[in-house]
Amino acid sequence: MEDMKENREMKAIIRILRFNPDIDEKPYYQDFELELSSGTTILDCLINIKDNLEGSLTFRRSCRSGICGSCAVRINHRAMLACKTQAMDVVRDGVVLVEPLVHLRTIKDLVVDLEPFYNTIEQVHPWLITDHTLKKKEEAGTVIPADVELLGSVDDCIFCGACYSDCNVIDVDRSFLGPAAIAKSFRFTVDPRDSAGDERIRQLVEQGLYKCPVDQECEIACPKGLSLRRDIIEYLRCGAVTNEVGPMPAHKRLIMSVLDTGASVPVTTTQAVDEYPEYECDFHGIHELYIKKFEGEPVAEVVLFFGCIINRRQQDTAAAIINIFQHNNVAVHIPKKQVCCGSPFMRVGMRDAMKPFVTQNFEIFNTYAIHGVPHILTSCSGCNSTFRHDYPGLAREYGLDFDFEIVDVGEYMTMMEADGNLRLEDLKPVKMRAMYHYPCHIRASELDESIYVDLINKIPGMELVQVPSSGLCCGGGGGVRAAYPEVSDKLSIRRMEVAKEEGVDGLLTNCPFCILSFERGLELMRESGEPMEFGIFDFYKVFSRAFGEEEDGTGGVRVEGVGCREDPVFEKQVYTQLTPSPLTIIPHTG
Ligand code: SF4
Ligand code: SF4
Ligand code: FES
Repeated sequence: MEDMKENREMKAIIRILRFNPDIDEKPYYQDFELELSSGTTILDCLINIKDNLEGSLTFRRSCRSGICGSCAVRINHRAMLACKTQAMDVVRDGVVLVEPLVHLRTIKDLVVDLEPFYNTIEQVHPWLITDHTLKKKEEAGTVIPADVELLGSVDDCIFCGACYSDCNVIDVDRSFLGPAAIAKSFRFTVDPRDSAGDERIRQLVEQGLYKCPVDQECEIACPKGLSLRRDIIEYLRCGAVTNEVGPMPAHKRLIMSVLDTGASVPVTTTQAVDEYPEYECDFHGIHELYIKKFEGEPVAEVVLFFGCIINRRQQDTAAAIINIFQHNNVAVHIPKKQVCCGSPFMRVGMRDAMKPFVTQNFEIFNTYAIHGVPHILTSCSGCNSTFRHDYPGLAREYGLDFDFEIVDVGEYMTMMEADGNLRLEDLKPVKMRAMYHYPCHIRASELDESIYVDLINKIPGMELVQVPSSGLCCGGGGGVRAAYPEVSDKLSIRRMEVAKEEGVDGLLTNCPFCILSFERGLELMRESGEPMEFGIFDFYKVFSRAFGEEEDGTGGVRVEGVGCREDPVFEKQVYTQLTPSPLTIIPHTG
């Protein structure tokens, strides 16, 4: 079996974006058919083409082993090292697309001018700044093994520029430093021998440390596996808070509101948890809703944690989720006191403020787990990623034990399907041509896009159009919408424009932050006179609709925004959803 794999061979088209500014008016694609075998890298293909087929093809390379960083190009729209990429792994429908890095001027073919990228590195003074007035070595700072580990975590950077090319913010705001420069600044900021750390952090905040929506595109691109988002950007944000130069004023207002109300957004109407008083009861001291409307024994019982946005702003989504579970004979426990997961604090560097949120949520979740309901389901991807990734470390610090399992609702639906408990045969057609928007917080929870794409594709009549690995950001995460709304707006509009180019009815997604951000973008597009045949579709509402639920006041789905082609109310529903209402004023932090 192994041998068969090693000896695989195939033909493929290597489609290269070519451009010689001396003779070409504009870039064009040229195809080269090559025989690929196991072990052939994209760089091997380029060398083969240059040596045997097209001598004018221009590209950079040196080490051929992932050390020099000179061969970075875009392969199928994502930045990668050509010498580290196995050609057969990236063939899509018989073709591999090879293009130069973006955000940098093309000099010729695949060679770009890296000067602007290097300039970002220079801006952060990438050298040790020592205080020579300190005589003793100890005063000047001594490097201990733990420091070496921290410094080593970024020293692997080979300045390939892949992260700069794939950074969403660079795409809409060239004043942003970009991930590699931030990582370089981190390298010196945490070096105990450096005496300019505070000033470095102050400058970083000025240079846009809080412009990053923490979508992790840079981490995916980085061939050296740097943990740019969590271990560098969020670490530096904690430093900014310690130095009292962060978070941004808009974040501080948001934080005050969370501390006042226990939630990251004000409630606009009735909270979802207050909409079903007839189901209120007590569960071992927890004031909750227990909803079981079907006959017979439940196939499972789960806890639903809606998160602030769905509970307070997207109550229809909450209703749709309840419906999905009722239809499939799953009883739901909904704790009435749903306190914020604390994500807004974590994302802006206020890690030290997390204790009350972690403690209170853990107490609730543990109570359910102890009494036989161990699955805590989150419908907000931001909550999911915070519970899954941030809470365990924090809980250890606070000495808290936990014995429950955090599961995303879509993930749980897949688990139900595997157990034969998701009644797919009941799904009614929803005629829609949409693009799935993969929320970055879902990816941060290491939940693969295919979980959701496969589920959506089970709905009859649904046509999903995917741009492979598009990696585009809604602009709603990391506190950017609150602090830099103009950056957030540009990101959200750009994402929708990419979808619109594919001729879809709209974007379909399962993150309340993404939905808010896109709704805001749609409103701006409408104000600017853009054509409006475009909707934002909520994954849960679409599923609830497909399960054929009628509105009934107890979790019955209300279908606003679940517009579909050939549906007489499609236009009305989409336009209804475009109503600006509170979208322009209330900041939120994903
Ligand atoms: S997480 Fe995204 S926006 Fe932030 S630096 Fe990385 S690529 Fe850029
Ligand atoms: S951080 Fe990673 S992707 Fe960015 S320049 Fe360094 S090695 Fe390349
Ligand atoms: S040729 Fe050096 S990293 Fe690819």
